[in-house]
Amino acid sequence: MSEKLWSGRFSEKTDRMVERFTSSIQVDKRLYRHDIAGSIAHAKMMAKVGMITPEESEQIAKGLEEIRMDIEAGRMEYSDSLEDIHMHIESRLVEKIGEAGQKLHTGRSRNDQVALDSRMYMRDEVKEIIQLLRALRHVFAELAKKHIDVILPGYTHLQRAQPVLFSHHMMAYYEMFTRDARRFEDCLKRINVMPLGSAALAGTTYPIDREYVARLLDFPEISANSMDAVSDRDHMLELASCASICMMHFSRISEELILWSTSEFSFITLSDAFTTGSSIMPQKKNPDIPELVRGKTGSVYGALFSLLTMMKSLPLAYNRDMQEDKKTLFEMIDTLKDCIDIYVRMLPNMTVKKDVMEASASKGFLNATDLADYLAAKGMPFRKAHHVAGRMVSHALAKGVEIDHLELEVLRQFDEMFEKDVYEYLEVRRMVDRRKSAGGTSTENVNESIKKAFESIESETIA
Ligand code: ARG
Repeated sequence: MSEKLWSGRFSEKTDRMVERFTSSIQVDKRLYRHDIAGSIAHAKMMAKVGMITPEESEQIAKGLEEIRMDIEAGRMEYSDSLEDIHMHIESRLVEKIGEAGQKLHTGRSRNDQVALDSRMYMRDEVKEIIQLLRALRHVFAELAKKHIDVILPGYTHLQRAQPVLFSHHMMAYYEMFTRDARRFEDCLKRINVMPLGSAALAGTTYPIDREYVARLLDFPEISANSMDAVSDRDHMLELASCASICMMHFSRISEELILWSTSEFSFITLSDAFTTGSSIMPQKKNPDIPELVRGKTGSVYGALFSLLTMMKSLPLAYNRDMQEDKKTLFEMIDTLKDCIDIYVRMLPNMTVKKDVMEASASKGFLNATDLADYLAAKGMPFRKAHHVAGRMVSHALAKGVEIDHLELEVLRQFDEMFEKDVYEYLEVRRMVDRRKSAGGTSTENVNESIKKAFESIESETIA
């Protein structure tokens, strides 16, 4: 293995244990493509401003392309003694092309290099996340469209509250994941800032052209302060926050799917391909996917907290602590992408048990609010109507029947305003469809939001 690139100042060899402890190569080797692209841009810039010759720049680019192919073909040997991907690539380049390779690191440092690489990496990943979320949002809109006639109980405090469309419930998740996608888009703006040329912390004496590098690497802007640029991880924290919020949404739907697939609820069945059995209890079919997604939420929150804690109290500018960011970042992104992807595959295969949902929606006094609304519509102040309906619920409870199963004479004992039309008024579908207020669960509203969702998904350009 070649000599360390920074060995000049040192007279003793690095301890093996120290090498292993300080090395990040097993983690950051996944940045190789971005590292190479960044170095090629840097070399082109150096040629443009006359720091190296065009031939040298060509040689560097060619050498780096070869290294990329070597890595992809598994021909790169990794060693802790070369610390990280930046030094592996640079030292291989020097081996390949000699002196021109030794000029590559002019006017830059690993501090701005790693900042560049990880921003480029995040930029690619965030775009992928947004596309995955787009597919997921499409799945929710499709589910809503397909099951537009299904009614289920809506809950508050996990107590049956009012009937809603299953589609309304699905579109609620569409909204959450759409906000998530927008948050990632917004975060991308802060990621997409070019830090290279900040050098170690203070900038450089060389006549570099940072705007040119930014153009080559497709960055809309360059960082404004070199000290900030090499030590800023805000965008990473933002990404971890976006990921955490998104996982929180996944955890909520996971919990619902787990509950819904119990024999107690029995609202849905997850397909066999997305469930597993028990090694001891033959009757079991476990909702492992939603359970694991719910569980993985913890590790994504953990990523946010480990990054926040890592950054806390760090003095300007770069500190080695920051090397720890990548392990956390990579695992977090992998987890999030996996969760989105598996949901995109699992959801369309779930069976929605319309009859069970509707039977539950017509039991448990979900019509009590409407009963009060009925009286209020006839002129009774709502507070009073609420009280009357409450007495009726307690009566029906004692009798063990639903309110709409009581005879009209019985209803009229509670208030003279009740007439025959109350039964129609209390039909589950009518209750749903009367909720036409903007954002409410009426079929008309929900159809409209499904339409808008498809239009919006359609109009989003692929970045
Ligand atoms: N492997 C390092 C990291 O990921 C690269 C920057 C190292 N800079 C330094 N001065 N040791 O943070």
